[in-house]
Amino acid sequence: MSAGGVPGADNAHAHALPPVDLHSAMATTGGDVDLRHHGDADTAPGLVDFAVNVRPGTPPSWLAQRIAASVGDLAAYPDPGPARRAVAHRHGRSADEVLLTAGAAEAFVLLARVLRPRRAVVVHPQFTEPEAALRAAGHEVDRAILPPDFTLDPDAVPPEADLVMVGNPTNPTSVLHPAATLAELARPGRVLVVDEAFADCVPGEPESLCTRDDLPGLVVVRSLTKTWGLAGLRAGYLLAPPDLVRLLADAQPLWSVSTPALVATVACSSPPALAEADAWARGLAEHRADLARRLDEIGVAVTPGASASFLLVRVPHAERLRAALLEQKIAVRRGDTFPGLGADWLRVAVRDTENNARLVRALAELL
Ligand SMILES: Cc1ncc(COP(=O)(O)O)c(C=O)c1O
Repeated sequence: MSAGGVPGADNAHAHALPPVDLHSAMATTGGDVDLRHHGDADTAPGLVDFAVNVRPGTPPSWLAQRIAASVGDLAAYPDPGPARRAVAHRHGRSADEVLLTAGAAEAFVLLARVLRPRRAVVVHPQFTEPEAALRAAGHEVDRAILPPDFTLDPDAVPPEADLVMVGNPTNPTSVLHPAATLAELARPGRVLVVDEAFADCVPGEPESLCTRDDLPGLVVVRSLTKTWGLAGLRAGYLLAPPDLVRLLADAQPLWSVSTPALVATVACSSPPALAEADAWARGLAEHRADLARRLDEIGVAVTPGASASFLLVRVPHAERLRAALLEQKIAVRRGDTFPGLGADWLRVAVRDTENNARLVRALAELL
């Protein structure tokens, strides 16, 4: 089924409302795991937070000031034009290939509501909202589970899949897939959604597909949440072929992205902001390598090839360890709610040298 030349998309009006039954209540449990469990549930005020992957010390004051100044304009309805053009310019795309969204999360919901895949495949382990959104929209979802070390094997995705969702770099594995391998997954008749919410953790973003307007059916989803500390603002966007952008925009609630979020989107697309993000990513790489080495020294198995702001580690009895860390006021992210992982996995955010050392000391004592 297709509409407007977009694979997997259909006319939204052709669909009956879903029946109200237990299916909707079960939809986001994913059967075996709670797809709606996120890192914020694993932390609390007063804890040293290794559970949530937002850049510490954010939003930076220059950005907070820009957002605060936009409050004076709240009487007017939001105008997405400037932010759309700023994002397009940043990625070398045209404005009609950009849809601004209330965070990456809204992009997943819009895709799930507009597309009508015959076979949707989510590559796991990964952030669970894409699968939750698909299920909530009534779709069946198949999982392509990558085994440790979680490198992407295009053969893991069935050829008949007409919607494929994958993260890069991936949460929670921190693995960065090569752009060329991801590109192999794109083909006519398929929508390939690449979640790049953590792409700006990688200096220069060499594996990003944001500029690839040549790949059929490619949708790249981006978020301002992590690098800019804007989880509460809800700002993100997607890049896609213009016909798909139009379909998604038609399904989006009017004025979905607020004026402060639009102001932040313009600000974070500017050359100084990109330079700031790049400098942070370079420092992050050093802290990450240091934390990985220290964990390795105390016998904690770290998933290799980490490229994002967190590490995925494997330790026996991870849940007991997590509880013991909580007693020491240290919060880490449980791993067992990610399809493809189990009771032996934890995700830890990369922090500064002092806090990383504190985590390693606590782990060393407990292990
Ligand atoms: C991989 C990934 N993508 C997307 C999101 C959601 O981002 P946003 O806050 O922009 O909705 C998250 C949040 O945890 C994430 O980890």
